[in-house]
Amino acid sequence: MVNFDLVLRNGTCATASDTFQADIGIQDGRIAAIGESLSDGAREIDATGRLILPGGVDSHCHLAQETVDGVECADDFESGTRSAAFGGTTTVMPFAMQQPGKTLGETVAAYHALAGPKAIIDYGFHLILRDPNPQVLGQELPAMIEQGITSFKVYMTYDTFKLDDYELLTVLSAARTLGAMMMVHAENDDIIRWLSEKLTTGGHRAPKYHAIAHARIAESEATRRAIDLASLTDTPMLIVHVSDEAATSAIRSAQTAGLKIFGETCPQYLFLTAADLDRDGLEGAKYCCSPPPRDSAGQEAIWRGLKNGTFQVFSSDHAPYRFDQTGKLRYGMDASFTQLANGVPGLELRLPLLFSEGVGKGRLSLNEFVALTATNAAKLYGLHPRKGTIAVGADADLAIWDPNKKVTVQYETMIHDDVGFTPYEGRHLTGWPETVLSRGRVVIENATLCAQPGSGKFLDCAKPDAALPTGRLHPEANPAENGGARLI
Ligand code: URP
Ligand code: ZN
Ligand code: ZN
Repeated sequence: MVNFDLVLRNGTCATASDTFQADIGIQDGRIAAIGESLSDGAREIDATGRLILPGGVDSHCHLAQETVDGVECADDFESGTRSAAFGGTTTVMPFAMQQPGKTLGETVAAYHALAGPKAIIDYGFHLILRDPNPQVLGQELPAMIEQGITSFKVYMTYDTFKLDDYELLTVLSAARTLGAMMMVHAENDDIIRWLSEKLTTGGHRAPKYHAIAHARIAESEATRRAIDLASLTDTPMLIVHVSDEAATSAIRSAQTAGLKIFGETCPQYLFLTAADLDRDGLEGAKYCCSPPPRDSAGQEAIWRGLKNGTFQVFSSDHAPYRFDQTGKLRYGMDASFTQLANGVPGLELRLPLLFSEGVGKGRLSLNEFVALTATNAAKLYGLHPRKGTIAVGADADLAIWDPNKKVTVQYETMIHDDVGFTPYEGRHLTGWPETVLSRGRVVIENATLCAQPGSGKFLDCAKPDAALPTGRLHPEANPAENGGARLI
């Protein structure tokens, strides 16, 4: 008798906590049974010798995002989600960027219109808040939370984005009241501006100076300041795209002190260095992102942070700009580093890079890999247990990996985004997600896309689960220690 739509047989399954041998029975897009010798499925896939992992949750990527100066985002929701799926990711969380003169509702409606007809896998949204005025924080943000958008990013740098400390405190306080997750791009804008001005007036315009202008100290100072502000308001907060040791240890100290500070890092901080920006001509522009890649000591600090739990999430920060006049070279071949679009692609290789170099080289356990690439993000953004795990009742978002498959990264033949290059060209990797399921649908099989644009669904996020590292009430945020005055 056929009991399931699909049965995955004899695979080695891994979650964030366990590794076990089992069949997985899938019915109506969900995991209906996990066990030995399950009864028949209408379709069966033999996963003997393969790993079955939760599909990745990439909780930081930029798709179809408008830019301020006419640079084009190379990936829309079709090419971006296609590329993600080929790399074993089944959920993406791009940003709906607040547009001046538009309400958050209008902003989000525009992103829904961009994503709905194109997405191949499921997606949620974060907001980017650029103008956190009382109307936005008091009315519009609560309405967005009701619509399942429960997280937002703010910036401490970039001219038309940066918030000052007063604004950060105001936004933190709103996040605390609303139970939203605040994500912070922590770089000190004045340090970067001052260094950039000195460098460019001295004639130092090449891409390699991007890494000097975006100094480590700019990142670590802003990280510490953001943490101090979050501790003052006792608000859970995530520091995104952490690049280096000093910022990592600032997060670690805050966690040790019991604050609910979460950390995110990305492939570029494990696999690229500032030396990559120092290539002929403008070639180094391909590696310019903010914060920039650092050095081998920084890479080791990031690996340690992944292992010791400082980082909860490993995201791509896929920021797709072509190496042509639509993207990185928008200001021509004469452009200074200050004019280069910031960001590197990484949706497709995020998981294979970490699997090969992390699990394959013994730096991370398989369960840590799953936690970092899927489960923790699903928890942090209110999608767990529907996403990010293997459990009865969860969406059947699964990737079947050949852990021994050898792959040499070659953009032209194997990457499915629309960027035109990968910063990881020529790397030798071991392990690849061969078959990928999204809600029980086979979306990737035999290196072929089997799903239609528009078949991905919007995910209504619940409020974040702050039960990852637990925090404590900081004395300054305690009314009793403020002479009884309620500050927040
Ligand atoms: O360089 C980067 N990271 N670009 C993408 C935008 C952002 O700040 O995440
Ligand atoms: Zn950022
Ligand atoms: Zn980003």
